[in-house]
Amino acid sequence: MAVGVFDSGIGGLTVLDAITRRLPDLPLVYLGDNAHAPYGVRTHDDIFNLTCAAVERLWDEGCDLVILACNTASAAALKRMQETWLPADKRVLGVFVPMIEALTERNWGDNSPPREVAVKHVALFATPATVASRAFQRELAYRAIGVDVEAQPCGGVVDAIEQGDEILAEALVRSHVEALLRRMPHPEAAVLGCTHYPLMESTFQDALGDGVKVYSQANLVAESLADYLTRRPKMLGTGTASKFLTTGDPKAVSSKATQFLRRRIDFQSA
Ligand code: DGL
Repeated sequence: MAVGVFDSGIGGLTVLDAITRRLPDLPLVYLGDNAHAPYGVRTHDDIFNLTCAAVERLWDEGCDLVILACNTASAAALKRMQETWLPADKRVLGVFVPMIEALTERNWGDNSPPREVAVKHVALFATPATVASRAFQRELAYRAIGVDVEAQPCGGVVDAIEQGDEILAEALVRSHVEALLRRMPHPEAAVLGCTHYPLMESTFQDALGDGVKVYSQANLVAESLADYLTRRPKMLGTGTASKFLTTGDPKAVSSKATQFLRRRIDFQSA
């Protein structure tokens, strides 16, 4: 009964951690495609092919349900996977929709027409590929009207986090926030649309100021998975053991992940 969790690198561990807290008995198989990270500067075709290969690898581990704990893959590949590639007995869920449902005050599966919501000015911080896809604006438009979204492609941040360079990551976050505030001086909410960014959440909050509510995905995704599994318990696959797989160097990735989650994580080769 294992569920797969996929990210281009270690960012999806923020989502895995929240799922582990919400569903402590659920075995999780994590796959980080560290050999090909970051995805945020790749073409959509490239992201689609890499994501499909990673999801197939998680099926081999007995995970019929895979969470794409990666906004870039969710934005650039998920719709195409669901429409053209996914077999009927498998499911792949993204990280965008739970966040947008929270922002637009909706419950899961509420498909009523778009309506006015409390927030009017939203800042989106994400990778260049996620911003270019406009998937956030598309999903938001299905649910809300009159919301102005200003998106900032945060080049370099994922690379700095993957390399463990917190000083560079912090400097880049501050300069991306400044750039966005020049175009939208008073956002009410900010969305951290990349699973790597929760590591820098306090820097985002500090640079944005206390008046801005920062939405970060991990808990929202964990809650939505718990809800999904009560409705679709058959989607728990046959896998029974939790494990961490990487396409990169297991030793280097384990040490970064241990630093990232502040508990020991041992990766093995995918
Ligand atoms: N954590 C991924 C995301 O949420 C990383 C993106 C990347 O590899 O550039 O978008």
